[in-house]
Amino acid sequence: MSRGGEAAGWWEDAVVYEVYPRSYQDSDGDGIGDLRGVESRLPYLEWLGVDAIWLAPIYPSPLADYGYDVADHAAVAPEYGSLSDLDALIAAAHERGIRVLLDLVASHTSIAHPWFREHPDRYVWAEGPEPPNNWIASFGGSAWSRDPRTGRLYLHSFFPEQPDLDWGNPEVRRAMGDVVRFWIARGVDGFRIDAVDRLAKDPEMRSEPAANVPFALPLHPEAMALDPIYSRNAAEIAVALATLREAAGDAPLIGEVYLPATMLGPYLEHLDAVFAFDLLHSEWAPEALGRAVDRSREAGAVAWVTSNHDFSRVATRWGEANARAAAVLLLTLGGTAFVYQGEEIGMADGPGTDPPLDRYDRDRFRHPMQWAADPRGGFTEGEPWLPLTDPEGRDAASQRADPGSTLHLFRALIRMRRELDGKPERVPAADGVLAFRRGRHLVAINTTGAEQPIPGAGEPLLASAAGVSELAGTARMLAPHAAVVLRAS
Ligand code: NOJ
Repeated sequence: MSRGGEAAGWWEDAVVYEVYPRSYQDSDGDGIGDLRGVESRLPYLEWLGVDAIWLAPIYPSPLADYGYDVADHAAVAPEYGSLSDLDALIAAAHERGIRVLLDLVASHTSIAHPWFREHPDRYVWAEGPEPPNNWIASFGGSAWSRDPRTGRLYLHSFFPEQPDLDWGNPEVRRAMGDVVRFWIARGVDGFRIDAVDRLAKDPEMRSEPAANVPFALPLHPEAMALDPIYSRNAAEIAVALATLREAAGDAPLIGEVYLPATMLGPYLEHLDAVFAFDLLHSEWAPEALGRAVDRSREAGAVAWVTSNHDFSRVATRWGEANARAAAVLLLTLGGTAFVYQGEEIGMADGPGTDPPLDRYDRDRFRHPMQWAADPRGGFTEGEPWLPLTDPEGRDAASQRADPGSTLHLFRALIRMRRELDGKPERVPAADGVLAFRRGRHLVAINTTGAEQPIPGAGEPLLASAAGVSELAGTARMLAPHAAVVLRAS
């Protein structure tokens, strides 16, 4: 149940697949993924079994932050296609029973958005020669920059090209409500909302105190030195969220709230789910993972996520050896689960490119999807905007032909998870094993490189690696780095 106990919605146990459009599938040979490309891959997504896709920003953008600097909220960037391509994608997805979520970038716009010049009052300004406080932008440096045209300082929680909107201004609320209504009228099923904890700040703009303890989630080192109690997470965010909720009606709103789980509760009064970043940033060890899961669940309706376009991929962060067990964890916890494109074939971080395109060094997590074992990975006929990483070692076509592949494991998990019910209840297990029960089912994950006992018995329903299920049935031992799901008889 979400939003204070209202009726269950389709997203509550959905698998949502994140499409990073620039890197998914190019259909016209310009080396940049596009909406027609996404549409052409819907049969694959249906085969995989996902319930919905989330399209990272598709709007016109100067790309200072790769689409998160939006220059027009109600249009499609020409390199991705047109509004009618999006209509066609939505219709084709719906025919296959796949819903479509867009990314609503609500806390800021691009500095190239016409509002910045035509409606400066929609942004946050400071008078005076010096910044009014010590706030640090997420990507480092002061959160205040001087507008060269007017000489005034404006606030930006991210890059200087991303001025923050003033949600205290009713015009901003009306305009963003209109954006939500515009997309819903076009058939969009819901939104992932960007940077929700930045929608409002301390009205007095006080300087942050020094941090006594490090913030619970990773931040830019400069931001880590301060306790971010004023530059985000202000009570006034509730007003912004109520506006978005009203505009969205029953369509799900999934919030990217970059705060520790213990601070997520108030956001769930308006949003249907919020990402559980505690899990994403957890160390790969049973106690840490278990605590992250428990804390997140206590917050309410969290959406599980283990990777996205901002952070190191699972195979790199938790290790190649653990990637399949991590898939079992993500997809057996219950609730909404987000799968980032490429994770289902075990993609790792790539080398990025030199010079970097993303100024915050996230190219490594955004390399093109690897569809086929050829140098361009089946992604494009042209020059890819970011090089392919290792298509000849990992690709969807080869894995589809191999029942023991990571891709087949994801598919099996997505099917099997429908059988699991009840909340995850942790059960005691050997050191190095994370185990929890979901009703009659037991999930056991061996985080170590040594064989470990399984804390329970039952019929093996699914295993992360070939051979593990037999092992589980007989010796009750879990192979190194393996995970199993058992059903009590
Ligand atoms: C979170 C997005 O996922 C990230 O890519 C972006 O840089 C920031 N929000 C700012 O919009």
